[in-house]
Amino acid sequence: MQYHPLGKSGIHASTIALGTWVLGGGTTWGDNPDDAESIRLIQTALDLGINLIDTAPVYGWGRSETVVGKALQGRREQALIATKCGLWWEDERGSFFADFDRRKMNRSLRPDTLQLEIENSLRRLATDYIDLYQTHWPAIPPDKTPVEDSMACLLKLQAQGKIREIGVCNVSLDELHEYLACGAIVSNQFRYSMLCRDAEQDILPFCAQHQLATLTYMSLEQGLLTGKVGMEREFRPDEFRSNEAWNPWFTPANRRSVLAMLAGWQDLLDKYTCTLSQLVIAWTAAQPGVTHVLCGTRTLSQLADNAGAADLELEAADVQRLRDDAVALGAPQ
Ligand SMILES: NC(=O)c1ccc[n+]([C@@H]2O[C@H](COP(=O)([O-])OP(=O)(O)OC[C@H]3O[C@@H](n4cnc5c(N)ncnc54)[C@H](OP(=O)(O)O)[C@@H]3O)[C@@H](O)[C@H]2O)c1
Repeated sequence: MQYHPLGKSGIHASTIALGTWVLGGGTTWGDNPDDAESIRLIQTALDLGINLIDTAPVYGWGRSETVVGKALQGRREQALIATKCGLWWEDERGSFFADFDRRKMNRSLRPDTLQLEIENSLRRLATDYIDLYQTHWPAIPPDKTPVEDSMACLLKLQAQGKIREIGVCNVSLDELHEYLACGAIVSNQFRYSMLCRDAEQDILPFCAQHQLATLTYMSLEQGLLTGKVGMEREFRPDEFRSNEAWNPWFTPANRRSVLAMLAGWQDLLDKYTCTLSQLVIAWTAAQPGVTHVLCGTRTLSQLADNAGAADLELEAADVQRLRDDAVALGAPQ
């Protein structure tokens, strides 16, 4: 396994990180995971050298955090728990974000909800500290808490020892500046894959320049880039992968063109003796500014596959070829 500094924190976190959204189950991922299997998965990830485990309260409405907490009993020190705050569903505080999994969810970075969220997460994670506490989405009107107020609360939690480091997710460059003006943050988490390269415009170069760790998500395009989502695969209407607004790459026409692109890389799979997932993860990890690739992983075999990407170093010409092919696909239709 390769490790990168988590920003300027002095902490070293695995380049390949475990994403545990899918372990929360619910309608979002179209399946009901077996928690005992999920616990085994997380423990095996540690065995394979993956120490960065990303979760969030909203993943399964507490279920993902609870499973992570159970998996880490007796092994807490081996793991870096990255969880989040700012998506709130217990009352009306905050600003409406989405109806998600048949529940109403608000965005709230108010100090009063943050104080409740941290206690809920610590309880579910069965720990007395969180290694990386990330704001899940920026606050929005009408109940838009100023960044300085949210940061003051987070810095207080840090001073109390409840969190080691602060990170952000899904921020614009302007918002990133606002956070940095209020105190030390060490990481930024955002969507980034070879098919979704917006972050290359500003966020990735900025993070590299300012020594911020980057945690990329959906780098496997929710499984599409593993080549295992064929034309025959059907998703339930309420799954995220049926939601064209969320991920247009899953429509039949787009899926066909992605599968054709992947089929053209057989020579690379032979050359590196690797799988498509490994090729895609290695490509992502090789991009300037990327320090950590979050891989959502449902099964032990997917885990072994994804962890195997850690040892894969692609030649520069192949990195460029993969980029050229992805760029040639254009935007999703
Ligand atoms: N901060 C945010 O707003 C945000 C948003 C999204 C995600 N995230 C984080 O980022 C993590 C990663 O994103 P993601 O889970 O949405 O998407 P992802 O990592 O692109 O895809 C995960 C899915 O890909 C499939 N997969 C993974 N490895 C595979 C393999 N080796 N072979 C075949 N299929 C494989 C599985 O699909 P099946 O389920 O079909 O088996 C898995 O559920 C999340 O778990 C979460 O921790 C954060």
